[in-house]
Amino acid sequence: MSLLIKNGKVYLEGNLVSKNIFIEKDKITKITSSEVKADKVIDASNKIIIPGLIDPHVHFRDPGLTHKEDFLTGSMAAAAGGITTIQDMPNTLPPVNNLQVLDEKRKAARKSVVNYGLYFGCDADNLSEIEKASNVPAVKVYMDHTTGNLLLNDNQVLEKIFTSNKFIAVHAEKKNVKRCLDLIEKGDNGIYFCHISSKQELDDTQSKSIENNVYVEVSPQHLFLTKDDLNNLEAFGEMKPSLKTKSDQKALWKGIKDGTVDTIGTDHAPHTKEEKLAINYPFGIPGCETLLPLLLNAMHENKITLNKIIELCSENPANIFKIKNKGFIKEGYDADLTIIDLDLEKEVKNEELFTKCSWSPFNSWNLKGWPIMTIVLGEIIFDNGKINKISAREVEYGK
Ligand code: DOR
Ligand code: ZN
Ligand code: ZN
Repeated sequence: MSLLIKNGKVYLEGNLVSKNIFIEKDKITKITSSEVKADKVIDASNKIIIPGLIDPHVHFRDPGLTHKEDFLTGSMAAAAGGITTIQDMPNTLPPVNNLQVLDEKRKAARKSVVNYGLYFGCDADNLSEIEKASNVPAVKVYMDHTTGNLLLNDNQVLEKIFTSNKFIAVHAEKKNVKRCLDLIEKGDNGIYFCHISSKQELDDTQSKSIENNVYVEVSPQHLFLTKDDLNNLEAFGEMKPSLKTKSDQKALWKGIKDGTVDTIGTDHAPHTKEEKLAINYPFGIPGCETLLPLLLNAMHENKITLNKIIELCSENPANIFKIKNKGFIKEGYDADLTIIDLDLEKEVKNEELFTKCSWSPFNSWNLKGWPIMTIVLGEIIFDNGKINKISAREVEYGK
């Protein structure tokens, strides 16, 4: 099967260039000005083709919590949002803290219509399993209380994990950010801070000379909502880390501009409406479908450039996690592509979402700039509101 995407503007090395993209099977084989004969042709006139987004941080709840989401519905939401690869967190049931459970999750993930990587979790005594886990983006360490029971606090245990043979991704808030840096300094590992949400935390990530081993993710909810929105959203705006002040939000946008922030991860964390309406509601919100429209809309408001969006959402995640053949539009790379219409204006509507939880804190927001087609490994998975259920595959991580 071959596919030609013609007449579009293609994002190549930081520029939008009029080129045709020729795809054979799952790979981009030619980026050319001439018209190549193909089995199927997509006319992308007036559209832009960007490398598919890589969401480094989602909770697809499969196995064990599939009443909230599963790999099929979560990945459909991702595809509808222009995301072609996700990395799934280990706080599923049972938690991914041994090789057997990782294997079970690998089976569950075969339903996914976007590419996936699977984090490994840790508890007080699974160091030997951590060291044996293969092809994982990182070991996820929870240093603050949140959904699931993977919390770790003992310094001795943490030191062993931070100096293990794995890259570390961490949920660390407030004082725990500096604590992580002290721990990571003892080995030669890198560290990835998930969802940094305050000015203080962002400043703290920069407080050591090991800076070039330190990566910072922010989440769209902290870029587009503040704690003032809780009046309207109530439990539907409750997440960990919590929504912060306008001045924290400003610091995150400044961090995007000055290069302190490396990636945007949605922390897509769906819970059902019923669960959110209960007195002891769980923390977390869905986010895969709204990430790119929110950012493109912000681009129209001159808050961010298209280049920066692609750097944060495609290129950097591929580089930081060493995901093979992804993140860029290049000959020989995987054909993971998102076609966007910068002029399309549309309202976010709960009833149109693919996530199983069927709600979004951005419901009824009118946004300009939407993905209209998502191609995963050379297959059209999302096309103008419709999903084509073709399984994708696990990504490969390099050393
Ligand atoms: O709000 C959150 N929800 N924060 C987390 O760290 C976990 C997530 C979840 O799994 O629900
Ligand atoms: Zn977290
Ligand atoms: Zn998370």
